[in-house]
Amino acid sequence: MDIKKLLKKMTLDQKIAQLCQFNARCLLPDVTGEITGPAKALDLTKEDIAYCGSTLTFADANSMIEVQKKHLELDPNKIPLLFMHDVIHGYRTLYPIQLALGASWDADIVKECSRMSARESAAGGVHVTFSPMVDLVRDARWGRCMESCGEDPYLNSVMARAQVEGFQGNLDSDEDICACVKHFAAYGAAEGGRDYNTVDMSEYNLRENYLAAYKSAVEAGAQMIMASFNTINGVPAIANKWLLKDVLRDEWGFDKPVISDYAAFAELTAHGYSPDDKESARLALNATADIEMMSTCYLKNLRALVEEGKVSEEQIDESVLRILELKDKLGLFENPYRYANPEKEKALALCPEHRAIARKAAQKCAVLLKNDDILPFDKNIKNIAVIGPWSDVGMIGEWPGHGEPEEAVTVIEGIKNALASSNVTMAKGCEGVLNELPDDKRINEAVKTAKEADAVILCVGEHSKQSGEAHSRADINLSPAQARLVKEVCSANKNTVCVLFCGRPIVLTDIIDTVPAIFVAWQPGTEGGNAIADLIFGNVNFEGRLPMTFPLCVGQVPIYYSQMSTGRPQLQPDQIYCSRYIDCPNEPLFPFGYGLSYTSFEISSPVLSQAQMDKNDTVVVSAKVKNTGGVSGKAVVQLYIRDLFASRTRPVKELKGFTKVALEAGEEKEVSFEITEKDLAFYGASGNFEAEAGDFHIFLALDSTSKDFVTLNLK
Ligand code: GLC
Repeated sequence: MDIKKLLKKMTLDQKIAQLCQFNARCLLPDVTGEITGPAKALDLTKEDIAYCGSTLTFADANSMIEVQKKHLELDPNKIPLLFMHDVIHGYRTLYPIQLALGASWDADIVKECSRMSARESAAGGVHVTFSPMVDLVRDARWGRCMESCGEDPYLNSVMARAQVEGFQGNLDSDEDICACVKHFAAYGAAEGGRDYNTVDMSEYNLRENYLAAYKSAVEAGAQMIMASFNTINGVPAIANKWLLKDVLRDEWGFDKPVISDYAAFAELTAHGYSPDDKESARLALNATADIEMMSTCYLKNLRALVEEGKVSEEQIDESVLRILELKDKLGLFENPYRYANPEKEKALALCPEHRAIARKAAQKCAVLLKNDDILPFDKNIKNIAVIGPWSDVGMIGEWPGHGEPEEAVTVIEGIKNALASSNVTMAKGCEGVLNELPDDKRINEAVKTAKEADAVILCVGEHSKQSGEAHSRADINLSPAQARLVKEVCSANKNTVCVLFCGRPIVLTDIIDTVPAIFVAWQPGTEGGNAIADLIFGNVNFEGRLPMTFPLCVGQVPIYYSQMSTGRPQLQPDQIYCSRYIDCPNEPLFPFGYGLSYTSFEISSPVLSQAQMDKNDTVVVSAKVKNTGGVSGKAVVQLYIRDLFASRTRPVKELKGFTKVALEAGEEKEVSFEITEKDLAFYGASGNFEAEAGDFHIFLALDSTSKDFVTLNLK
């Protein structure tokens, strides 16, 4: 399609409408589709609907075909709509939430999950998914931790690339959809962990930590970026010219569409950054924002702004061209329905192959936090009790696409599938609502059930709907009812394992000494119950490691491993004048990178191929990792560095590499990583991304608490 020629044909009103995105239900009222933001009447005219450029959140292939067909009848230019959707942790077959994927430390499974959901959603008519969300998260109170791969820029960057590659492939097969990376930028740094709240930080911190994963996604070829709701240093992202034009477009070379988040244009007035929608439209266009999702600042004001000479039609043309180029790249002018295929959509949904991928992912994402030698349970167990509010609930996460909880395998179903001949009993013990107080009668029933069983599986933590967008929490402990249930059941039956469902780190301090064993299942998706049974009965071994620190108490938050030293680091427990709390240790309950296995591992001290390097050298750091236990397992060897002094203070540790090592019982392998100047570089006083001469501590570790390093000098 000659899109420049098409552009010349378009009227100003048609160009302006091309920049607008409305929910599918706005375009065709009887089409179903979830509303993912504040519902507000947009009073669209027939022309607005005829000329608009894209739509979001529609039900399935049939509704996509219906909406596209209707649109093409109405649009005189026959420009096909772009169909976008939140395919976050699955389209119909749901895999674990992104925070769980971060815990897998396995880019391959992350890519495989993204690929699976691209396959299912492409058949459902999706052209663009609003995913991956790569916001760095360091505050467990924030509801959207569940959508992120965690607190570390490097781990997030690896998983961002894996998801973009998984979704997009080469954009030329019927399994490819476009990735729209979000939320640009630093949405996860909301003050107080309160969703949509202010983000204010130095450019140093922004570039060092919060921008890394978006940049990785852009370098991986993401076809769209979604600007975030929040302000960054006083300027809302969607109108932030420094962020969208200077950094994203001019510095990173991103020449594709930028879309707003839901009604974020119209929220510039609520931010107090614009007096009205007309000024909001001008500000956003000057920032090079292209698509306005679910509000009408552009639609109702750009024509006047052009006529008043406050914006130029050339600016509008640039945005329209970015959108038309994407439609052309996807071949939509030739085939507006692309890969929409109702029969294929139905055949792929929850198919055995996809269920197997979801199950494998849920196994790999689980993190074993404690095991006083009671796991794995014996498969010949006669009486097993599944207790807790989430025993019979499908835990599918807060962005379930078209998946339903009822389609997910619950824990009790997973246990029954695994132990066909055993007697499996169940007691809820409590409802699972936030801040729930104990009900003696229900607790006593659960205790009785526990006493009558040979082993107990205790399902506690958060429901899928207790994290996610607009679900921040000020208190991240278990509710009083759940904490009491855990304590009473564990004292009634010592053979109890606690399964923690959550979309964020939960404070476990109150129960950790009571439970004999506990692991994090996150929100595991469609095959959660089967994967949990696989792990509990030892069909598979744990290999997950924490992608986000688990605090000792919520007062420590934000807490993360890659903190700065400060001028008064706490070096001794009894130190007075140092950076500490007088009522709580500095250390978390469980650190970043931590996770147990059914076996045990040891790692030798790191060894360098050379102790000194210059900027062009490649140095190899190696260590031997050994399986010192009785069964096979996978160790996650993590490469950390510390820059001892520089023109900006540097973190006490930074992850720069990782690898999973499969080891048979007793087996030992050497693991090596290459270190180049790039691994030592940062945004220093020069403003450039470069390393500075000096000493670095190099760690090869099994989690982020290692103190075993070797010194490398950069000349
Ligand atoms: C929501 C979310 C965003 C999502 C969009 C469309 O408000 O912030 O992540 O992609 O709206 O549903």
